[in-house]
Amino acid sequence: MKAVTWQGRRKISVEEVPDPILQEPTDAIVRITSTAICGSDLHLYEVLGPYLSRGDILGHEPMGIVEEVGSEVTNLAPGDRVVIPFNISCGHCMMCRSGLQSQCETTQVREKGTGASLFGFSSLYGSVPGGQAQFLRVPHANYGPIKVGSELPDERYLYLSDILPTAWQGVKYADVPDGGTLAVYGLGPVGQFAARIGRHLGYRVIGIEPVAERRAMAQRHGIETLDFSKNLGEELRSMTGGRGPDSVVDAVGMEAHGSPAGAFAQNAVGLLPDALARKAVETAGIDRLSVLHSAIDSVRRGGTVSLSGVYGGNANPMPLFTMFDKQLQLRMGQCNVRRWTEDLLPLVEDPADPLGVTDLMTHEVSIDEAPEAYASFQKKQDGCIKVVLKP
Ligand SMILES: NC(=O)c1ccc[n+]([C@@H]2O[C@H](COP(=O)([O-])OP(=O)(O)OC[C@H]3O[C@@H](n4cnc5c(N)ncnc54)[C@H](O)[C@@H]3O)[C@@H](O)[C@H]2O)c1
Ligand SMILES: [Zn+2]
Ligand SMILES: [Zn+2]
Repeated sequence: MKAVTWQGRRKISVEEVPDPILQEPTDAIVRITSTAICGSDLHLYEVLGPYLSRGDILGHEPMGIVEEVGSEVTNLAPGDRVVIPFNISCGHCMMCRSGLQSQCETTQVREKGTGASLFGFSSLYGSVPGGQAQFLRVPHANYGPIKVGSELPDERYLYLSDILPTAWQGVKYADVPDGGTLAVYGLGPVGQFAARIGRHLGYRVIGIEPVAERRAMAQRHGIETLDFSKNLGEELRSMTGGRGPDSVVDAVGMEAHGSPAGAFAQNAVGLLPDALARKAVETAGIDRLSVLHSAIDSVRRGGTVSLSGVYGGNANPMPLFTMFDKQLQLRMGQCNVRRWTEDLLPLVEDPADPLGVTDLMTHEVSIDEAPEAYASFQKKQDGCIKVVLKP
């Protein structure tokens, strides 16, 4: 089969690889019909290379048709149409039962001290072959896959794999008071949905994003927008009666623009041999913190900052005095995808499309065009906001 593989920093190639086969009685094999590129793939493409090996198959936002199931997969049959959550979770451990599927105790990657295994997400998360491929082996298929109907197009359902529940969790964790104001940093795919979910739940939403067409897309969904600037804290306070927004979602993460120190550290790490680079990530501050620090500055006293954007460095400087003095709450983490399915499925199937899932994808291309698609998504060229590959 064809698969999108990592070959080095900013090097992706489509290779012919062996088809996956059933390995456990709880596995399924799915023929992929649509598979998206995520902002998290860009971290693997750029900063987290030291945790990948040449030939690793990328991708964690797939959907398709079940081809084959193991003997213990009684909930699925060949021909079923399914969306595959990016976290691999068992559904029956204490974490899964508590709605913390991204911390699943059955699939945790204990040798790295990390949470649940993820598709296509480096050795930090189990080196599981990913979903940007023609076929995917799905472990724990008796729990993870979301069965969907056959009428509506893939575009309606695909984002249930990651960015829609990620945005939903980000907004829920932001704990916005009724009728309150939510600021969303970053209007990439995750930020777009976080902002629209905020509107859907009745909040005033202000989105912050340097790229003009991403601001324009958000404005179509009733979101006020600002460019990222040095005076952002002042601007946000002046828009909110001097206090600042009640809650903030950071949908940018470790590669934020406007952080010269972090950018320098990330470049330096990129030049090190892998073993040293891994050590640097694990012991130093390599994240670009402009957004996180701006979020802490701008949120009102007693407010909540919710991180959907991924961070990687283990010794980043944090303004703890301000955080303590302002009495902030900080929540974060990989999304617990399956926890939010029942909330989101009716919204993506609603003919009125309340979250605008059909207004996100800007590029639908064949899997062969993945290398160019990664490059234009990273550089935000050609109006690229969300790419869906068709294997
Ligand atoms: N927690 C999870 O489970 C989870 C799941 C999916 C994605 N993510 C993370 O969410 C983040 C966003 O992903 P995405 O798919 O939307 O990707 P993306 O890279 O397209 O989005 C990031 C956006 O932030 C903007 N940005 C950069 N610097 C900024 C700044 N200083 N101020 C405001 N905006 C700025 C960029 O222009 C871009 O539009 C990534 O870190 C990704 O890894 C987390
Ligand atoms: Zn993703
Ligand atoms: Zn579990």
